[in-house]
Amino acid sequence: MAAVPGNSSRKELRTAGHNFFRPRHASATTHLLSANLIDSNEVDTYCRAAESFEAGETRTPGSVGKTVALLFFQASTRTRIGFEAAAVALGAAAIGVDDMSASRSNARSGETLEDCAAVVSRFSDAIVVRHHESGAAARMAAKSVKPVINAGDGWNEHPTQALVDIFALRRGLGTIRDKSIAFGGDPRGRTVRSLAYLLRYEAPREIVFCPPSYYDIPRDVLAIFGESQIRCRMVSDITSALADCDAIMMAPYDMSDIGEAADSDYISPKTTPESHMITPDKIERVGSRALLYHPLPRHEEIHPSCDDMPNAMYFEQVRLSKFIRMAVLDRFLSAN
Ligand code: NCD
Repeated sequence: MAAVPGNSSRKELRTAGHNFFRPRHASATTHLLSANLIDSNEVDTYCRAAESFEAGETRTPGSVGKTVALLFFQASTRTRIGFEAAAVALGAAAIGVDDMSASRSNARSGETLEDCAAVVSRFSDAIVVRHHESGAAARMAAKSVKPVINAGDGWNEHPTQALVDIFALRRGLGTIRDKSIAFGGDPRGRTVRSLAYLLRYEAPREIVFCPPSYYDIPRDVLAIFGESQIRCRMVSDITSALADCDAIMMAPYDMSDIGEAADSDYISPKTTPESHMITPDKIERVGSRALLYHPLPRHEEIHPSCDDMPNAMYFEQVRLSKFIRMAVLDRFLSAN
């Protein structure tokens, strides 16, 4: 694991850098556990900060020399490498255990998440955690003496991915206001819930769900949109979403590697229905201009031959994710 302040010589840093989060914000939230606790001003501030990092305009001094602990109890590629790349770009260092199952904080050794947080937060300035248990980040936050950032807890939430998704949707669409946004894939996923919380600030015209017949849309997710008077409707195949929507946020239809959703009667059939797979043929058949997003990893829900079509935004979404994660880390590292 890279653990160096990278190419950032302190001399190069512009110490008069932007202060994106005023102290009021820095102290308002100690941890980043749920997208429900991010307000609309913060979303804008994160996006503005990310844009500046992308443009190379801003090196903020608050993160230089700080240490981020990456605790990934559950598999990850983008989120973990993204946070690590963001830390390096900020002049911070990333530390952690490559394989948490080989640490003493695993189920076999029996060290609690609370004790793990109490220990690791004394070696670091912020903890980024991914865990298979819903509420794991909150449990760690209760005993951590430093900010805890939830990088995905079971089927519950993935708030930094939601910030990435909003940033990438705004980039592709210009604005989300009055746009029709579809969700493909398993609607019970943590990325869906977190994005729903942030989409309520963006005034989309409608939300279109495209679940296979065997999944329900979680009631709390529907309520998030209902309370904001955002219309939701359902379509039964992905071609309808391709024809009607401005953007589709896909996800796998089989997410059994996250474990089965606790409060659902439905067990993943571990397949992707043909009617829900996006292919170049379907895109061309309806002349779809829908932009395609995906937190990734994908299975069969978007055919690889879509990758070079103008609809494909998912790898651009990955590129943009680094700047949002820089913005998130910088906010929490600068605050303490
Ligand atoms: C998530 C993953 O890898 O588990 N993707 C991501 O963080 N970019 C998707 C998820 O949490 O469902």
